[in-house]
Amino acid sequence: MARKKIALIGSGMIGGTLAHLAAKKEMGDIVLFDIAEGMPQGKALDLSQCGPVEGFDAKITGSNDYADIAGADVVIVTAGVPRKPGMSRDDLLGINLKVMKAVGEGIKNNAPDAFVICITNPLDAMVWALREFSGLPHNKVVGMAGVLDSARFATFLAWEFDCSVKDVNAFVLGGHGDTMVPVKSYTTINGIPVDDYAKIKGVSTDRIDEIVDRTRKGGGEIVGLLGNGSAYYAPATSAISMAEAYLGDQKRILPCASYVQGKYGLDGLYVGVPTVIGAGGTEDVVEIELSDEEKANLKVSTDAVEELLEACKGLDESLK
Ligand code: APR
Repeated sequence: MARKKIALIGSGMIGGTLAHLAAKKEMGDIVLFDIAEGMPQGKALDLSQCGPVEGFDAKITGSNDYADIAGADVVIVTAGVPRKPGMSRDDLLGINLKVMKAVGEGIKNNAPDAFVICITNPLDAMVWALREFSGLPHNKVVGMAGVLDSARFATFLAWEFDCSVKDVNAFVLGGHGDTMVPVKSYTTINGIPVDDYAKIKGVSTDRIDEIVDRTRKGGGEIVGLLGNGSAYYAPATSAISMAEAYLGDQKRILPCASYVQGKYGLDGLYVGVPTVIGAGGTEDVVEIELSDEEKANLKVSTDAVEELLEACKGLDESLK
């Protein structure tokens, strides 16, 4: 059987990290694409030379030509501009919308059968726009946010409880912004609801609420510390787990920015929801029971996403 092909559109900080992870895991051959000339080729060469040390045979190439992504099984999109300190993800809208148009057309013309994972921010609007511009089926285009947001929530909870991250199952819904909804009622420490475990460990509700707040602002905290650019290790790791779920037909239930029509009272938008990922792409959206407060928080989050979609439509006639 021929090796799988993974195309990475955008070869910056996340793109390079994705390539390294995918190669180490021998997920397939990798094409690093970017508009910057020389850079993807340079990274591909550098990464290829990890092969003999790490023991992987993945073929890694760099390209500035969309023709080289032809036949890709998975495409992961990070093309665009990351945040600088003081910027919100939404501030990136105008610049990255134009990038999504070019990328969407490149995918449509060269890799229309791929499973496409978008990481570019503002995520929920960009994955929607990328789907519109590419014309791919909704189940083959998904956004990476919830896996990362849940990982941030899980990290902070594990630190607080001084327990293994392996035992924390954290749950985050909604848009990938400061309005995201960490759902405490579905967050468990090896099956024990987080509020119950907090009582056992003598951790106050206020402290858990502080952790929820830190999770919401988790990306911004890293932007502030880095001073130039945004997070890349955990975003790349999160997208790789989604790609593995697709390539391995794992039927994992992962929180992803998926197209939701009908469920959660939503009418055709991309937002973070529990999603089954298997060989069919996003095979199902799981609708869970939410408390009134969680429902209200999800509404605030989805309203914010809807506002961004309106802004996109205002910026590009073809999206109306
Ligand atoms: N086509 C292809 N690549 C592009 C295009 C385009 N039209 N426009 C920009 N790029 C490339 C840049 O040349 C750069 O190499 O996208 C790459 C982005 O890399 P970084 O600037 O290092 O950004 P990164 O940290 O990887 O984040 C990328 O993911 O999490 C989001 O907010 C983040 O939107 C940002 C994206």
